[in-house]
Amino acid sequence: MSVESGRLPAEGVQRMFDRIAPVYDAMNRVMTAGLDQRWRRATVREAVLPGERVLDACCGTGDLAVAARKAGAREVIGIDFSERMLERARRKAPEVEWIQADVLALPFDDASFDAAVVGFGVRNVEDLSAGLKELRRVLRPGGRLGILEITKPRGPLAVFYKLWFDRIVPLLGRVLPGGAAYTYLPASVRRFPGPEELADLLRTCGFENVRFRRFAGGIVALHVGEAA
Ligand SMILES: C[S@@+](CC[C@H](N)C(=O)[O-])C[C@H]1O[C@@H](n2cnc3c(N)ncnc32)[C@H](O)[C@@H]1O
Repeated sequence: MSVESGRLPAEGVQRMFDRIAPVYDAMNRVMTAGLDQRWRRATVREAVLPGERVLDACCGTGDLAVAARKAGAREVIGIDFSERMLERARRKAPEVEWIQADVLALPFDDASFDAAVVGFGVRNVEDLSAGLKELRRVLRPGGRLGILEITKPRGPLAVFYKLWFDRIVPLLGRVLPGGAAYTYLPASVRRFPGPEELADLLRTCGFENVRFRRFAGGIVALHVGEAA
């Protein structure tokens, strides 16, 4: 496991996000030209209904949880194992409950949420199947899981994407705190399952009516599935 292979043990991931927490939101806005918030709103629109109890897993600095609250969720809980990311989330939205926890061992009862969302998180989880099954466990039957994740584009955008992700993003990392994170990022996307494969895995892990759509020419994919 290494930064270059895009695979890190859980402690490595946790330390990496602790280090980049101060620049995380700014980097997101710069790297996506501000589109990341639009994708988060789309995730919430497809996965969350007003009045629901919602889990934002791997919540980081909490932007998805905040979007879920704005969309009328009754109660939102954000979990993440990086305390430094959670500190920023707490400052951003004190009305949300923020809990330090591992998505592989969620401190919640079975079937206790109506919906769960994960933004740019599942790619970092050491055991992806175990994480999806754990999310399935805490959703009520019929509850929705929305997964927003970076993916590998096809077609003309693939060339631009390669230049941006493989050359420019790691360069940015040289001048920012936690720079290794920006070598890890493109490498982790390269080894992560493509959208079709992730949809199949969701089915294997107990979700039905699984569908996905791509944003921004296929740089990002949103998967939605219902707990069987
Ligand atoms: C790229 S950030 C995404 C943050 C946020 N969801 C967003 O939309 O910007 C990934 C987050 O996943 C968290 N994370 C990764 N693996 C985790 C795990 N096993 N349990 C809990 N959090 C995890 C990291 O600490 C980090 O804050």
